[in-house]
Amino acid sequence: MYNSTYSPSPERYSSSSRLYVRCGKSGVLLPKVSLGFWHNFGSVDPYERSRAITHYAFDHGITHFDFANNYGPEPGSAEETFGRLMDDDFKPFRDELFISTKAGYTMWQGPYGDWGSRKYLMSSLDQSLRRMHLDYVDLFYSHRFDPLTPVEETLQTLVDIVKQGKALYVGISNWPLEPLRFAETYLKEHDVPLLIYQGRLNMLDRKQIDDGILDFCADKGIGYIAFSPLAQGLLTDRYIDGIPADSRMAKEHFLTSDRRTPQLLDYLKQLQSEAKAENRSIAQHALAWILEQRGVTSVLVGASSVQQLKNNLEVVR
Ligand SMILES: NC(=O)c1ccc[n+]([C@@H]2O[C@H](COP(=O)([O-])OP(=O)(O)OC[C@H]3O[C@@H](n4cnc5c(N)ncnc54)[C@H](OP(=O)(O)O)[C@@H]3O)[C@@H](O)[C@H]2O)c1
Repeated sequence: MYNSTYSPSPERYSSSSRLYVRCGKSGVLLPKVSLGFWHNFGSVDPYERSRAITHYAFDHGITHFDFANNYGPEPGSAEETFGRLMDDDFKPFRDELFISTKAGYTMWQGPYGDWGSRKYLMSSLDQSLRRMHLDYVDLFYSHRFDPLTPVEETLQTLVDIVKQGKALYVGISNWPLEPLRFAETYLKEHDVPLLIYQGRLNMLDRKQIDDGILDFCADKGIGYIAFSPLAQGLLTDRYIDGIPADSRMAKEHFLTSDRRTPQLLDYLKQLQSEAKAENRSIAQHALAWILEQRGVTSVLVGASSVQQLKNNLEVVR
């Protein structure tokens, strides 16, 4: 299907004024809609479909792609898919891309393949760079807070990763507010300001607002990127009439069928009529709600088809 050299759309930045927003008080502009590679880009997924989604994203100004060491399945294979995409298509456009990866969840066996030690984070990032065929990532995250490793060890590792040139910026994901406060201060004092926080935020899960994470980020000039903004597909029309065979709920253990409750279906009906009044899809309505929240920089969407991504990107039309 894609035998020729990829030639991205010359129009890809034509909607710049609507799409890009400053990430906290940094020099970085991020697209309001970013693309996540957690699902649909693994070794189990058709490469040409992953490639078409990635092309569509870049062709429409989505410059930020988000990874973690363990994305797949198999763990690591989403980064490998991207390494292949770099070779096939994206090498000439490396400087137009903002690539993030993370470490913090289980990646390999034994005591050094998990959590927040220097040993794990350093070796994991080296592995990620090899898989992605990159010399550096733009952003490296601690993927979760480790209550047993001294927090200074994790944070100093983030500092050193930047000083070694393996990442340009650092981020924190899923940390509670108190250690986040400590991280913000520590990183600032070590001249590697915290660029961004990545947390789960959607119309069905507002805990990060209630916990004060968004206000903290806004007050401190830290960007905020919302993951699972569509609650893995629940906040779309995907499950209104049943559970499609090709859906995440049918295929993955991350989204179980007990989430499709009568209450959810009622809520979706309400959202559907609100969305219709705005001439939007449920997905666009759900994304717009997040983008209106104080402190939010970007929504990090997943997509299993070009059509879904196209629909989601319309939120910034
Ligand atoms: N930091 C963390 O701990 C963490 C955790 C989770 C995610 N993330 C990041 O956030 C990214 C997004 O997470 P997510 O995949 O859960 O996001 P999501 O956008 O909430 O869900 C994506 C899924 O929703 C469905 N979908 C998307 N657009 C649709 C549309 N317009 N109409 C109908 N269905 C639609 C698709 O499901 P089907 O596959 O069923 O078609 C798609 O795979 C990840 O890739 C990752 O980068 C980070």
